[in-house]
Amino acid sequence: MKKLITLTEFIIDRQGEFPDASGDLTRILNDIGIATKFVHREVNKAGLADILGMEGTENVQGEQQKKLDVYANNQFINALKAGGQCAAIASEENEEVIILDNPISNNAKYVVAIDPLDGSSNIEANVSIGTVFSIYKRKSLIGTPANESDLLQPGTELVAAGYTIYGSSTMLVYTTGHGVNGFTLDPSVGLFILSHPDIRYPESGNIYSVNESNRIYFPEAIKAYLQFCHEDDPSTKRPYITRYIGSMVADVHRNMLLGGIFLYPGTIKKPQGKLRLLYECKPMAFIAEQAGGKASDGTRRILEIHPDSIHQRSPFFMGPKAMVEKLEEFIRFF
Ligand code: AHG
Ligand code: MN
Ligand code: MN
Repeated sequence: MKKLITLTEFIIDRQGEFPDASGDLTRILNDIGIATKFVHREVNKAGLADILGMEGTENVQGEQQKKLDVYANNQFINALKAGGQCAAIASEENEEVIILDNPISNNAKYVVAIDPLDGSSNIEANVSIGTVFSIYKRKSLIGTPANESDLLQPGTELVAAGYTIYGSSTMLVYTTGHGVNGFTLDPSVGLFILSHPDIRYPESGNIYSVNESNRIYFPEAIKAYLQFCHEDDPSTKRPYITRYIGSMVADVHRNMLLGGIFLYPGTIKKPQGKLRLLYECKPMAFIAEQAGGKASDGTRRILEIHPDSIHQRSPFFMGPKAMVEKLEEFIRFF
């Protein structure tokens, strides 16, 4: 019988990768794991509980908040507050950074950027949705309240990042800069079990994921790249297969396992695209690079972009290195 490794055991085993490990990162990752289980429970019975539908409020993006958006947001905020290892949170669902100004949290080393529920438009259709999280070491003085600048760091400063996908099973996938590992929740015992050790992108792939209804608004380079995807050239596995769920977590997860590129380009109407740099693009870019892939905004490495504001958007391309570099060639050429 193969030994089952739980997420907690795995995190503690890997603590040694951090010379100054004090167990704080272990605890904050576990706090996120706990909140994920509560969200899993509500997502899995969303059709039964009074958790579907609109909250009747708008978030800072002007998007209608779903009850599950608000529920998930509260779960992660409460877990991080209770855990005492986080000094501040930037959330998609909150306009300002949440400063956890209390004696315990002010002594915390870390801050968290989170998309508590990604793919909300898919909730009622029972399509996979997810959570995206990322952890930075605060730059402000420990012992004092954190501030927004603690969250406005380039992705190269990320300590950990990951996502949970609430799909046919609930999986938590994360990296601390030493590879990417996936854990599947066994709901019967409430434990995340290591199920996908050392996830790596295939060398290349033949899947592309983009919302083609925006095609007429894409820059010429993107239109030309999509044309390239559609061409008949079996020697390069084209025409590529198109797969688009509309939940970034689900599209990215499938493409990382099977080999494919995810594109959320800017358009003539929205040159910065839709995805938020801080709590969607950068955590996923960290995962991409740790899985041997690449993530860019078409010209710059996502992890090197220094955010100016917590909700700023960015064009986003992520996938096997060869596929992203081919796309970047088109962007350079046009
Ligand atoms: P969120 O639900 O957190 O707002 O994120 C939704 C995002 C992302 O999950 C997905 O890739 C993208 O929106 C889909 O956008 P379109 O419906 O415009 O394709
Ligand atoms: Mn999202
Ligand atoms: Mn969201």
